[in-house]
Amino acid sequence: MRRYKPPQQAPREDLSDIVATHLHTPWQRPIAAHSRAAFDAIRDRVEGSTRPLIIDSCCGTGDSTRHLANAFPSSLVLGVDKSAHRLARHRRGKQGDYVMLRADVNDFWRLAVDAGWRPARHYLLYPNPYPKASQIRKRWYASPALPALLGLGGILTVRANWKLYVEEFAHALGVAGFTATMQELAAESPITGFESKYLERGNALFEMVCDLEIVSGGLDKLR
Ligand SMILES: C[S@@+](CC[C@H](N)C(=O)[O-])C[C@H]1O[C@@H](n2cnc3c(N)ncnc32)[C@H](O)[C@@H]1O
Repeated sequence: MRRYKPPQQAPREDLSDIVATHLHTPWQRPIAAHSRAAFDAIRDRVEGSTRPLIIDSCCGTGDSTRHLANAFPSSLVLGVDKSAHRLARHRRGKQGDYVMLRADVNDFWRLAVDAGWRPARHYLLYPNPYPKASQIRKRWYASPALPALLGLGGILTVRANWKLYVEEFAHALGVAGFTATMQELAAESPITGFESKYLERGNALFEMVCDLEIVSGGLDKLR
């Protein structure tokens, strides 16, 4: 019988070491051919645009993508998710300039960095939390994908219904030399499917914002 493992209760003491390892170790995992094909399919659309780019990573059904396109009408918004099932449930809005893309962000972020993309803003709303302590390396801030996420730059906004997730995310960014701000989100009209669900349940929601264009020295600290 499998033993129940409760969610992680406190920040992992080895988080800084995990982050430092990822920052100093190039990720060798090859880019999948289907990821490259997906990236190539929208490349002209993005690179041909003169509008500021906003990326909505792990957008699920894309409610937030539609919302962002309305909120930033002079930007091009790109919603990315790996789930065809979720993307198929997207309800297209009439306003705003946006594109939905099926891709694994583990590959997509690296391809976008290599292509020199610089989104003005990057949203990561309610990513899978992987709450067990043993799952920490699956969380974006402790995964080998972190350097590519940082390399994209822009103003990064992360939301979660688990305070520890945003606290550890902010800590990881600090290790990499960035300063994040955190706040509890005031109840407002939800902009994603998961946000709706959490608000209906009365869950507290947390947001972390970090300008990845401003480095304050953490990388040097690590050398
Ligand atoms: C908890 S859902 C949140 C979806 C949406 N942001 C929302 O708030 O409703 C997490 C999403 O991350 C997507 N996801 C997980 N790993 C991914 C990856 N490697 N690449 C792209 N999408 C991923 C899943 O398919 C899922 O839609």
